[in-house]
Amino acid sequence: MSVVKQNDFKMVAKTFFGLEDILENELLSLGAKSVKKGIRSVSFYGDKGFMYKANLNLRTALFIYKTIKISTMKLDSDIYSVMKNISWQKYMNVDQSFSIKTTVSLNRSHNSMYFAQKAKDGLVDKFRVLFGKRPNVDKKFPDIHIHLYINEKTVEVSLNSSGSSLHQRGYRLRTNIAPINEVLAAGLILLSQWDKKTDFFDPMCGSATLLIEAAMIACSIPPSLNRKIFAFQKWIDWDNDLYTKIEDSLVKKIKDLKVTITGMEKSPSAIIKAKQNLKNANLEEFIVLKKFDFFKSSKINVEKPLQIVFNPPYGERLPVDVESFYSSLGNTLKKNYPNSNAWFLTSNLQGIKFIGLRPSRKIKLFNGKLESRLLNYKLYKGSKKQKKQ
Ligand SMILES: C[S@@+](CC[C@H](N)C(=O)[O-])C[C@H]1O[C@@H](n2cnc3c(N)ncnc32)[C@H](O)[C@@H]1O
Repeated sequence: MSVVKQNDFKMVAKTFFGLEDILENELLSLGAKSVKKGIRSVSFYGDKGFMYKANLNLRTALFIYKTIKISTMKLDSDIYSVMKNISWQKYMNVDQSFSIKTTVSLNRSHNSMYFAQKAKDGLVDKFRVLFGKRPNVDKKFPDIHIHLYINEKTVEVSLNSSGSSLHQRGYRLRTNIAPINEVLAAGLILLSQWDKKTDFFDPMCGSATLLIEAAMIACSIPPSLNRKIFAFQKWIDWDNDLYTKIEDSLVKKIKDLKVTITGMEKSPSAIIKAKQNLKNANLEEFIVLKKFDFFKSSKINVEKPLQIVFNPPYGERLPVDVESFYSSLGNTLKKNYPNSNAWFLTSNLQGIKFIGLRPSRKIKLFNGKLESRLLNYKLYKGSKKQKKQ
């Protein structure tokens, strides 16, 4: 790992529980320095250009925070002086709006609102002293997004460089009723260790999130290339030329799609949404969509290996008869999809029991608040024993 230089600063990328290893790998392959894994986060160092690159290119990050101050705090009220002592004029103009979000990790009882309020007072008073006027708070569309992470001993003050969550890639304008978060979708594909050479199939593709993420992974398309705005574009040190240079160099690395990516879906309304999303992502020519019932389908080429990644209905938001649905799922995979490497995410832990196949891997993840499992089933032609002989 290369050495941290003078222009480098600490950043923290946030992610979902269970995707920390994947995010760490993404950061290492992008060239991040001093990478350290946390819970739902990975910290790293890099310069401004690297921050732009990370925002454009990380598939499993939700937000990227730039740390601007770490201070010890003895009393809760110390937050005021910590904020007042920061040279805010280096980061924002008095005419810009701001918002403060707090993550508080304290064992004792506390009031998160108190921290945000006192922190705002400190920042505002800093500007009053310097310029005789104060910047305004805008909770919905601030120019500057400030984040405080408060634990027993310290407060870490950061600027959220992304703004709204990075799962908002800009392609999914229409959704069906249970779309998977784009960051989680990319995480599932990366966890499945898809080699990008084997054909990819989502048999219950809904609004096509996994198909789009798979195509972007296979072609090295930066996931946030079509995003309208990042918070760092409002920063005092915003460097349009540097950003354009980084964007251009990432665009040059985009490759042609060399595998077939296919989605199947039985609901006509979901197919319409999937088509629209593929169009928004400029991928409609490259991905095959089939309106069909997976349980009545079979693999086209039995000999050719296939990577299957999907999230079936869990019986939460989309009602299903759990026993018959999950046993049909297991039977279809077993009988009709030999030579496949199947992965799916479900929060229905009861349903898993009806699959009738032994998973070779079970990974704990969260889909929103739902504790889920990503399961892997290696499907051979005939039994596993025969395959080994
Ligand atoms: C949880 S959603 C998938 C969401 C999808 N990953 C997305 O991002 O939009 C499950 C989908 O499976 C579809 N489905 C359920 N049973 C099916 C079957 N037998 N064959 C094909 N699709 C099915 C549902 O219509 C629904 O769109």
